[in-house]
Amino acid sequence: MPASAVVARDLWRSFGETPVIRGLDLAIPAGQFVTLLGTSGCGKSTLLRILADLDNEISGKVQIAPRRAVAFQSPRLLPWKRVWRNVVLGLPGRPDKARALEALTEVGLAHRANAWPSTLSGGEAQRASLARALVRDPQLMLLDEPFGALDALTRIRVQTLVEQLWQRHRPAVLLVTHDVEEALLLADRALVMESGVISHSLEINLPRPRNVTDPAFVALRAELLARLGVGAAVTAADTGGSLASPDSTASPDGTASSGEPVGSGAPVGPARPSGTTEDV
Ligand SMILES: Nc1ncnc2c1ncn2[C@@H]1O[C@H](COP(=O)(O)OP(=O)(O)OP(=O)(O)O)[C@@H](O)[C@H]1O
Ligand SMILES: [Mg+2]
Repeated sequence: MPASAVVARDLWRSFGETPVIRGLDLAIPAGQFVTLLGTSGCGKSTLLRILADLDNEISGKVQIAPRRAVAFQSPRLLPWKRVWRNVVLGLPGRPDKARALEALTEVGLAHRANAWPSTLSGGEAQRASLARALVRDPQLMLLDEPFGALDALTRIRVQTLVEQLWQRHRPAVLLVTHDVEEALLLADRALVMESGVISHSLEINLPRPRNVTDPAFVALRAELLARLGVGAAVTAADTGGSLASPDSTASPDGTASSGEPVGSGAPVGPARPSGTTEDV
């Protein structure tokens, strides 16, 4: 296992003349659970696509653990393939049902292995998507709002499942969320993205399982909300703990709170020449 699951240095990505990622620096050690927050449109999904190696129109340097898996807000199962076949889709060799069943058992879905995706509930489909990620034995899991479309109760169940899977397999995780409580319940570290760089990094050294009423949790929530530019007077109850599209932006103080290198935040300009994406 490499020491780092992700190392990005001076990463740039533009669409046309508009840079979205602007000299971003990021390091995720192996096995660390990291959540990524930031206003809508700030570039979180763009960053995840780059780290998933789905986008290489970049400049700068990116090193990524070779075994990685991605899950998105919508589970993206192929409707014409049974659940188990979706789970092992894309793996080399013949489709291995035993391997699919093993992963489906881990997410509590072995009994739906032969089902068609259209017959799954939202939570079941998302669990199938997690099984598809797990079967790859990833060193890095990239999760882009994977709980976003789930009802509140299912969301809590799938969150718990993700935490359990992480504790069992210890991949590094980069989870995009708009939910501050979710970020603090699950992560070792919460990152705030702003103006195309990581503007803040908050270590979450709370014992697990975490309790939202723990005063230390409440204090971290206030700090993270402040980093996101949401005034201290706004409580999680007011926002539902969620920051789908806060209108305000954080006021950058130019420093990371706990060691994450802060990107240059360089001015708008044309994209640089192509960079490199490598496995660690
Ligand atoms: N393929 C594309 N072509 C042009 N612009 C794009 C493309 N993909 C993303 N963008 C732009 O880049 C910016 C960042 O988009 P991105 O999807 O990364 O945001 P996000 O932080 O994930 O937002 P959200 O929280 O709403 O999911 C947006 O302004 C978006 O319009
Ligand atoms: Mg997004």
